[in-house]
Amino acid sequence: MKIGIIGAMKMEVDALKNIMDNAKIETYSTVDYYSGVIENIDVVVAVAGVGKVNAAVCTQTMILKYAPDMIINIGVAGGLDKEFNIGDIAVATSVVEHDMDTSPIGDEVGFISGLNMINIECDETIINAMYNAVNCIDKIKAKKGVIASGDQFIATDEARNKIVDNFNAIAAEMEGASVGHVCKMNNVPFGVMRAISDGANDDAQMDYPTFAKMAAENSVKITVEMLKNIQGE
Ligand code: ADE
Repeated sequence: MKIGIIGAMKMEVDALKNIMDNAKIETYSTVDYYSGVIENIDVVVAVAGVGKVNAAVCTQTMILKYAPDMIINIGVAGGLDKEFNIGDIAVATSVVEHDMDTSPIGDEVGFISGLNMINIECDETIINAMYNAVNCIDKIKAKKGVIASGDQFIATDEARNKIVDNFNAIAAEMEGASVGHVCKMNNVPFGVMRAISDGANDDAQMDYPTFAKMAAENSVKITVEMLKNIQGE
């Protein structure tokens, strides 16, 4: 089994590169792909860059060049669910592109042409492996639900509430649905897990720089735990 792991920023996946055995680095379209072994599992790890286009290019390249059996997208997100504290974990049951909007010509907001759906479902085995792995950190709670992606850092109550109203999402970030979209097109199972770095609200601009690193460390820790568990699934 080979697992692809994609983060948008260095802080979201760099620690994984440091614990990788037999790492080999290849570069495509300016993105470095680190392939090797973590916890006896073959992995390929990449920092895609921020936003949906970067994530799509990285995901498609990873699939064509490394043929992973599954892809997981990890990192940080703005929390939309009121129960979340900073550092808690959102595990996606499905992902949506919140900025996809062809409603003026009759579609529902979020409808993805081609896939012809709004919610892209995540793989059940990956969802459970992620959710169960959260136990490895004390006092961190995990919640499953919709994760919404778009090419915007959400930092106003107005933008936040719109995403909650349209999609009933529990977290907002900028790549997960793009990874999911490309995986769906290629029939590759995928999952998205994000640690909460801010509330995607009027305080987000202040909270994000303070808490993103700590949240990213949580998501990496849980990913390693998940790799240990998934071997037995
Ligand atoms: N990633 C972390 N916080 C975020 C936010 N508020 N909006 C979009 N992406 C994020």
